[in-house]
Amino acid sequence: MAVAVIVAAGSGERLGVGRPKALVRLGGRALVQWSIDALAGVEAVKQIVVAMPPGADAPPGVTAVPGGEARSDSVRRALAACGPGDPVLVHDAARPLVTAQLARSVLAALEEEASADAAIAALPVTDTVKRVPPGSAVVSQTLDRRELWAVQTPQVFRRAALQAALDVPGDVLAAATDDAWLIERRGGRVIVVRSSEENFKVTTRTDLEVAELLLAKRRSRAP
Ligand code: C5P
Repeated sequence: MAVAVIVAAGSGERLGVGRPKALVRLGGRALVQWSIDALAGVEAVKQIVVAMPPGADAPPGVTAVPGGEARSDSVRRALAACGPGDPVLVHDAARPLVTAQLARSVLAALEEEASADAAIAALPVTDTVKRVPPGSAVVSQTLDRRELWAVQTPQVFRRAALQAALDVPGDVLAAATDDAWLIERRGGRVIVVRSSEENFKVTTRTDLEVAELLLAKRRSRAP
């Protein structure tokens, strides 16, 4: 059986609503609640641990812990509060349009690939991506789009591999924008699972408006 970690302890400064992003209202509930409800519908997930902003109330039906300084620090704290269970599914509360079906397919991909340490939701990049050195406006390189994937969550890990990958100094944790990188940097094997555009990350007010529209559309289709 699996355990799930939802990281919801970010400040959400870029959203500019004056409170943590996970607590912002979306479709009549807190943003984090959408991810909790989606993962609660996954049969293989027997516990959900949520890293919450300091001082926030614990959502019902889950284990809540205070988050850390950096995202992967929040993952580490939540993992420490998980009961037995392997693998570990890690999801960002900032992706409220995640579905139980996507979580199931990432879990299945890791189960089927015995040599992998992690399976991660991702999408092939559709934009052309160029490298521009910091402080400069001059393009130094155009990357080959055929090799580029934009990474999302859920990310599913063999528990021992994630535990070991998170056992690093604070500056390394702070540099991690996803947990799969912590696996890669110690030579672990990570596989991508094709995801959907709807599983985008809510960062700006426009993202929040788009999420609201998509959730309204989903509700109108629900039986
Ligand atoms: O900052 P970013 O958008 O990458 O955050 C991704 C996710 O990590 C969000 O769901 C956010 O709440 C969470 N996070 C966290 N603890 C932090 C920073 C971010 O749980 N210290």
